[in-house]
Amino acid sequence: SNRYPFHGAHQAGIVTPSQDRLHFAAFDMSSTATRADLISLLSDWTAAAARLTQGSTIGDGAVDGELLAPPDDTGEALGLPPSGLTITFGFGPTLFRDAAGTDRFGIAARTPPLLRELPHFRGDLLVAAASGGDLCVQACADDPQVAVHAIRNLSRIAFGRAALRWSQLGFGRTSSTSTAQTTPRNLFGFKDGTANIKAEETAAVDDDVWVSASDGPAWLAGGSYLVARKIRMVIENWDHTQLGEQQRVIGRDKGEGAPLSGGTEFTEPDFHARRADGSTKIDAQSHVRLAHPDFNKGTRLLRRGYNFVDGNDELGRLNAGLFFISFQRSPEQFIRVQHNLADDAMNEYIKHVGSAIFAVPPGARAGQSIGATLF
Ligand code: HEM
Repeated sequence: SNRYPFHGAHQAGIVTPSQDRLHFAAFDMSSTATRADLISLLSDWTAAAARLTQGSTIGDGAVDGELLAPPDDTGEALGLPPSGLTITFGFGPTLFRDAAGTDRFGIAARTPPLLRELPHFRGDLLVAAASGGDLCVQACADDPQVAVHAIRNLSRIAFGRAALRWSQLGFGRTSSTSTAQTTPRNLFGFKDGTANIKAEETAAVDDDVWVSASDGPAWLAGGSYLVARKIRMVIENWDHTQLGEQQRVIGRDKGEGAPLSGGTEFTEPDFHARRADGSTKIDAQSHVRLAHPDFNKGTRLLRRGYNFVDGNDELGRLNAGLFFISFQRSPEQFIRVQHNLADDAMNEYIKHVGSAIFAVPPGARAGQSIGATLF
C-alpha cells in the first residue's frame, strides 16, 4: 500500500500519481467563526491530515480513549493501510470576502487577484448545492473507505467552526498524472488522461501547475489553483450514439485512444491530416482539438478528475458523469480552455451542474500549518 509524505514544499494530491478513489468536500465557515477559529481549524486539520495520510488514527484513536467519552477517531479505517491517501486543502474566494463583501477573517487584503468566481460559460446549468465553498478538502486514496474516513473525521474536527456545504464521491480516476500509470477510462468509455501533464514533465509542472513567487501573492508561492466542475453525462443519449460518431466527438479512437489522424495512443494529433474527400480526419469541433494547446495559445492543465454515479433519477436514468478537477498556475488557463469548449461537439452529451474554484496554498513544513503563510 502506498504512503505519501504529508509535509513538503507542495501539497500532496496534485502531482501524486492519481489514486483510484475520491471524496471531495467543500466547507463553509460558520456564521459565528472568528479569525482565531479559522487559524485553529487549519492547525487541527493539518495535524489530523498528517496522521491520517500515514495510516494513523486521530488523537487517542478509535478504541484506546476513555470509555466515558466519544472516541477521537470514528474507527472505520482501523486495520486498513494508508492506501495512498492524500489530503489537499484549498481556499475559496468567499473565505477572503463573503458574498456581502465582509472581510470576516482579516485576510481580504491578501486575496490572490486571480481568485475570483469563475465566469459564466455557455451551457452552464449550475446548481448552488454543488457549487462554491469557503474551503475545500480533496481526499484521494486507493480505498474508498479511507477517503471517506478522512473527510468524515475532518468534518467532525471542524464542528462549530465550519460545516460541509457539499461533497462528492468519485471512483475510477479519469486521468493519469504519472507516466508510470496506464490511462484509465471515463464513463463515455474513452481513455482519459493521455495528453495530461505528468509529474515527470517537471518543466511543464513548474510552468503550468505551481504558482511562482513572481506571480504573487507571496503566500501562495508553491501553491496552485484548483477548479472543480461537476459534469453530468447524458448517458442514455451517448449509449445510443454510433461508435463512429462517438469517436468524431472525442477526436480519438475508442479502443486505443489514438488520435483519428493516426498512430498510437501517444502520437501527437495532426489536425491538418485530411481524408480523400478533403475533410479533416480530426473534426474541427472534436473535444481533443478544441482542448488542445495549439488552439488555446499553448495552455495546458493538470487534470485529476474522477467518474461518479450518484444513483439514478425517477425515470431510471443514471445520475452519472465526470467530476472534473484541474490544477493550474492561473485560473486563466481553465477559463481559456473552457471558453474554447463552447463549440465542443461533446456538449450535446454533457451538462456542467457544479462549479468551484480554490487557491491551494503551498505544502506545510513539519511543525507548520497549512495556510501558515497566509496569516
Ligand atoms: C482531453 C474527455 C471535460 C480539457 C480529453 C480526452 C478525453 C476527454 C477522452 C482525450 C484523452 C486525453 O488526452 O486525456 C472529457 C470528458 C469530459 C471532459 C468526458 C466531460 C465530461 C473537459 C473539460 C476540460 C477538458 C471541462 C477543460 C476545460 C481537456 C484537455 C485535454 C482533454 C486540456 C487534452 C487535450 C490535448 O492536449 O490533446 N478529454 N473531457 N476536458 N480534455 Fe477533456
